[in-house]
Formats: sequence, structure tokens, C-alpha cells
Amino acid sequence: MRQVKIGTTGPQVGVLGYGCWRFLGHSLSHAETLIETALDLGMSLIDTADVYGYGGPGFGAAEALLGKVIAANPDRRRRMMLATKGGIIPPEPYNSSRDYLVSACEASLDRLGVEQIDLYQIHRPDLLTPWDEVARALEDLIEAGKIRQVGVSNFSPAQTRALQANLAPRIVSTQPEFSAMHIAPMDDGTLDWCQEMNAAAIVWSPLAGGRLADAHVPGEGDPHTLLAVHVELDRLAHQHGVTRSDIALAFVLKHPARPVALLGTQTPERLKAAIRALEVNLSRRDWYAILEASRGTPMP
Ligand SMILES: NC(=O)c1ccc[n+]([C@@H]2O[C@H](COP(=O)([O-])OP(=O)(O)OC[C@H]3O[C@@H](n4cnc5c(N)ncnc54)[C@H](OP(=O)(O)O)[C@@H]3O)[C@@H](O)[C@H]2O)c1
Repeated sequence: MRQVKIGTTGPQVGVLGYGCWRFLGHSLSHAETLIETALDLGMSLIDTADVYGYGGPGFGAAEALLGKVIAANPDRRRRMMLATKGGIIPPEPYNSSRDYLVSACEASLDRLGVEQIDLYQIHRPDLLTPWDEVARALEDLIEAGKIRQVGVSNFSPAQTRALQANLAPRIVSTQPEFSAMHIAPMDDGTLDWCQEMNAAAIVWSPLAGGRLADAHVPGEGDPHTLLAVHVELDRLAHQHGVTRSDIALAFVLKHPARPVALLGTQTPERLKAAIRALEVNLSRRDWYAILEASRGTPMP
């Protein structure tokens, strides 16, 4: 699989990664199949968060299941770039104070059953913690060997720069929502910041949580826009002999920030099928046609 480097020193990861938001309630055997399938396909970035499971089996449940998958075959740890996130604690809802982040990270290490997290991301900006305190927490965690690199998620570029101004190590990634239904990161400076800083854009919900594959999947987003985007995706799917989802992923992957798209399917067959998107090379006109359908207006 095509690779991108996370940070200036790497590691390299596949441009498709696997996300564990929905990785819940499975038997160990199904959970192992999903992670093995992702790794075998080259989806080496495995992304989770401590809060995944909250509202269902419980806070920490997705990390704990991933920990069991790693424990069942420790070689899997070596094959993945392990990314998690902390800083959301419902119902507060956010806490990036030094003491909380350090304890949250230690709890993540415990659930995952690993010595070190490769990429620790602040899940959402905490508006009540000063940036220098967030920076101290991250520096202390690196110093203690508990995390290797740091990233942010759902941060504005201004928030990322403010944290970076207080932080000695480079912020190597940001994690925005980005898809043909959610194009804001191209306009709000997020994907420009990635290119400015040579940082990775690790993008979430690249299929808009499934709605870009199937309009009946419930979720947010204007139904008229979704219909217009589907029309363009279907036209191109027919032209390229692939599926609508393949075109939706190809749209994300064509952006020059060279995103890593985190897939969230719980079906190994859909993971395998997603590889087809890597073969699709959208023309400039076709890429803009999807963007125009999403914007609802032609480019100026
Ligand atoms: N940083 C953040 O705040 C944040 C927020 C959300 C997510 N994330 C990350 O991003 C990852 C991916 O997010 P996501 O799960 O929303 O990604 P996604 O790949 O856009 O959506 C996955 C969903 O789409 C469904 N789907 C896929 N193909 C389909 C098809 N052909 N027909 C119908 N449904 C289909 C899947 O159902 P099946 O399982 O049935 O295939 C699954 O429910 C998460 O796991 C997490 O790591 C981060």
C-alpha cells in the first residue's frame, strides 16, 4: 500500500488506516480477524481512543478489546503504529489538565497492555486548560517513555499553533473529519497547516460514517447534498468500474496533504474491498465535480 511518513522521522504507514471507534462488543476471534485483516492489507495505523465504548460497553472498552487482540499475538504490536487519544471524559466533557492527561494516558497503556503508545493525540481541545500546561503533560509523557509522538484531533489550526508554541517536540499529526460530505478542513486551514508543517492529516469518517456508501445509514448532513454527492460518486464509479465508496475514498486520498483515511467498518470483506480505492486516479475535473456537488455551487 502507498505509504506516508508520520512526523519527520517516521514511521511510514499505509494511506488507509483502521479506526476502532466502532470496534466494540465483538468476540475476541472476530476482533482478531478485523485487526489481522487490516494489518495484512497494510493498514498499519491503528487508531483508537480511551472514550470509545462510552455509551455502550463502557469507557475504555475499545482499547481493552484491542489490548486483548495484541496480547493474543504480541507480534501484532510490532506490525502496527498504535495511536490513541485522551482528553474527553463525559460528561465534563473535556479535560487536558496535566494531571488528568498523565493519568488518562497511563490508563490507556494499561488497557492496551503496552509499554509505549506510538502516537498520543489530544482528542478535542479543552478550552479551560492553558496550552503551556497541555504541553507540559505531553513533554512529561514523552520524557517518561510512555508516548513516542504527539498529535491533536479536532483542533483549529490556531489551537494547534498555540499548543506547538509551548511544546518542544513537533506535533506530528492532526485528526479532522474529512470526506466528500465534510469538506471544512480544506477551507479552515487544517489541511494547509499539515502541508506547512509536514504533518500528517489522519482523517476520520472518510465515508461520512457509511452515508457516502448508503444513503439510508442515519447521520448528520443535508439529504439534498448527500443525494447530489451520490450522483457524482455513482457517475464516476460507473466510469471506473468500482463502487461509490471507492470513489469517496479516492476523493479524500487525492488531496495534496496526503491524508491517511481511517476506515471504520466492522466487516473484514469491506476492509479488503477498500483497497480498490487506491487504484482510482480521479481526474482534476472529476475531483472538482465531487467538491462542487458537496458545496452545492460551482467553483467561483
Ligand atoms: N477524532 C475524532 O473525533 C473521531 C471521530 C470519529 C471517528 N474517528 C476515527 O475515525 C475512524 C473511522 O470513523 P468511521 O467509523 O465513522 O468511518 P467510516 O469508514 O466513514 O464509517 C464506517 C461506517 O460505515 C459503514 N459502512 C462502510 N461501508 C459501507 C457500505 N458499503 N454500506 C453501508 N455502510 C457502510 C460501516 O458499517 P459496517 O461496519 O457494517 O461495514 C461503519 O458503520 C474511527 O474508528 C475513529 O478511529 C475519530
